[in-house]
Amino acid sequence: MENAPDSRIIELIERALKARENSYCPYSNYAVGACLEAEDGSLYDGCNVENASYGATNCAERTAVFKAVSEGKKRFVRIAIAGGVKGQNPKDYAYPCGVCRQVLNEFADSSMEIIVAVSTEIYEIKTLGELLPDAFGPNNL
Ligand code: THU
Repeated sequence: MENAPDSRIIELIERALKARENSYCPYSNYAVGACLEAEDGSLYDGCNVENASYGATNCAERTAVFKAVSEGKKRFVRIAIAGGVKGQNPKDYAYPCGVCRQVLNEFADSSMEIIVAVSTEIYEIKTLGELLPDAFGPNNL
């Protein structure tokens, strides 16, 4: 995979920060936004959507993945994620939960870039392989 130019990384972070504004998180008050880039360059935003039955909550990353897959995109190259107290700027990096890592692995190579952002200036990039080593995936079946 080719490295993304900085401008692309910043675009994804800006969209993830914007997607946070739509977060429905009355129970945790923790708003997460994500912006997912498909292999063809198209972008899909997502936020966390909580539920009174807490286990029915959907994370921001999976919202973005399910939106994209439902529109026919099945391979992804990078995702930006931003999370923090609703109505405040993020203070820490919000790494994807284990379930989201597994869902990303279904549709991406281990080289997929996971961009965790506090702002467009403060962010960290890791690969999916670093976050989910020795993954169990489609190739195992
Ligand atoms: N959350 C995400 O959206 N993504 C993650 O990877 C971790 C957690 C959401 C779920 C829940 O709405 C809130 O953050 C607190 O767990």
